[in-house]
This record gives sequence, C-alpha cells and structure tokens, in this order.
Amino acid sequence: MATLIASTDDVPESGSYLFTVEETDGSLEEVILVALADGVSAWKNFCQHETDQRLDRGNGAAMRDGEIICPKHGSMFDAESGYCDNGKAAGSTLVEVEISVRHGQIYLTDDDLEFRHEGGIDDDGGPSSTSHLQL
Ligand code: FES
Repeated sequence: MATLIASTDDVPESGSYLFTVEETDGSLEEVILVALADGVSAWKNFCQHETDQRLDRGNGAAMRDGEIICPKHGSMFDAESGYCDNGKAAGSTLVEVEISVRHGQIYLTDDDLEFRHEGGIDDDGGPSSTSHLQL
C-alpha cells in the first residue's frame, strides 16, 4: 500500500525531509528524503559507521555536491546510491527505503514500513510540538 508522505516541494534542495515510520515489529525508525538532480531518494536516518548516529538531527542533513555528510566523522554518502567510499564509513551503503513519486507527490511504498508522522521520533506532531509552526 502506498501512503502519501509529502510533496516534492517539501524536500529542500540542500538538506533533508525527516519523517518517522513504524517497522513490522512496532519499533519506530526515522527516514530522510533527499533531493537528487532528478528525483528524490529515501534512506533510514542513521550512519553506517555508528548506527546510533543520525544523519539528520532535526534540522536537515548536511549535504554537499549530491552527497549526504555524516555529522559525526564526516563520511559522505552518495545521495542517489547511498554508497560511501570515504572516511570511517567507507565501503558501506545507507539503508534504502522504497518510495515512489507521482505527479509531484511522494509515497511510501515499502511493505515493511508504515508512515507515522512528519519529523523525528520524538516529534510526535502533537499540540505541544512547535517545530512545524509557520511564523
Ligand atoms: S558515525 Fe558516521 S562516519 Fe562515524
């Protein structure tokens, strides 16, 4: 089943769009959407060197020249393939999440994941959340 996540306009040209999904075992996981030269890709929001290290810590992942930069040790992952050929995470690949893009809308099509909410795990989007206020 495909669930609408966001519009392609919501994905920043540099940085990332963060959202939370539920795994089949009920655990929560964060996913980032990043803009490519042509399209959008989706990755689990953690580094392959130290898997408790988030790439997007709530303010968008650092990006340069089509690569996602790990904030801890600076390894860079190709935003299209997820592959890293440098630094501490060299030889690893980010965990891909299946999405599809239709008419400018991005859908989660990964059968093992269920869309929960926009933002990180701790950002449940409830009334006390201020992170998405538009001022
Ligand atoms: S935790 Fe990402 S490169 Fe070390």
